[in-house]
Amino acid sequence: MSEPRVDATRIREHVLRLGERHPPVDLDSTDYRVLDPAAVRDRFGGVLEYMARVEVEVERNVLELAVLLPDVSETDRLFYADVWGPQEERHGILLDTLGQHLGMPPVVANTGEVPARVRVLGALAHLPVVHEVVRLLYYLTGAATEKSAMLAYQAMSEGLGEMGEHAVKRTVVDAIKVQEPGHFAFYRLSAQEMVQSGAIAPWQLHLARLLRSRSYGLVGAATREQRTDFGGVVVELGLDEQLERNVRDISRLETQLLWAHREGLQVPEYALAAFRDAAAMYRERLAHRGGGRGGRRGGQALAA
Ligand SMILES: [Fe+2]
Ligand SMILES: [Fe+2]
Repeated sequence: MSEPRVDATRIREHVLRLGERHPPVDLDSTDYRVLDPAAVRDRFGGVLEYMARVEVEVERNVLELAVLLPDVSETDRLFYADVWGPQEERHGILLDTLGQHLGMPPVVANTGEVPARVRVLGALAHLPVVHEVVRLLYYLTGAATEKSAMLAYQAMSEGLGEMGEHAVKRTVVDAIKVQEPGHFAFYRLSAQEMVQSGAIAPWQLHLARLLRSRSYGLVGAATREQRTDFGGVVVELGLDEQLERNVRDISRLETQLLWAHREGLQVPEYALAAFRDAAAMYRERLAHRGGGRGGRRGGQALAA
């Protein structure tokens, strides 16, 4: 691997720096003035609703992590409990408040219930060899989620800029957007360190590949309805126009770490299929409703 070597000290320093440089966004720093609320709602209502929900559900993700990784390292705990969690929760509040300023109802999120499949994996993770597989999958999922969020916020920021909605672009979307790359970097460094250090045996890597390809999930999309909503974010933000390139970006880390033996593989098929299916289901929903691109409301895609 041509990547520079990563060690535990470097990861810890990254987390500490992230906490210092990026405190949760100050709620008093936001400016929700919008020139044309109806137009913003028409263009971004569904996206906003989905992203707000996923950001708010981070509260549950933190509970899930404690179950999933019973033997968590101090650096991992520091990241998710003290740095990432508080930042993401604030992202949720900002997006939810923006939605309400646009006349949308408060977001409905599941913040308390840890799903059964998480509890089952968590029980298995008491075995150290399984724990490390779960930990690698946690990093890979986190990386894909954060990269998805980066693409989504970038598209939203550009769209709001085109509409002349500079106050919310700058104080809400850009204020959130600037915090996501540091999250991505944490997951990337952590996964690279695991593989480079040899902490993961070949059979564990094989198990990770199997689990990842069988259980790949789009962020915040547990049900068919939510997968369709996720497709809405992809389509409404125009991310489907270069879908393969975007999914390649989102999956680059796992392509490198899990599928290094499949020379020339650009993007894992399971990831591309998940995004394609979601976008197709959303287009089908639009066709049934007789709607077109944009102008929809009430759907709910990508946040972290
Ligand atoms: Fe994030
Ligand atoms: Fe976020």
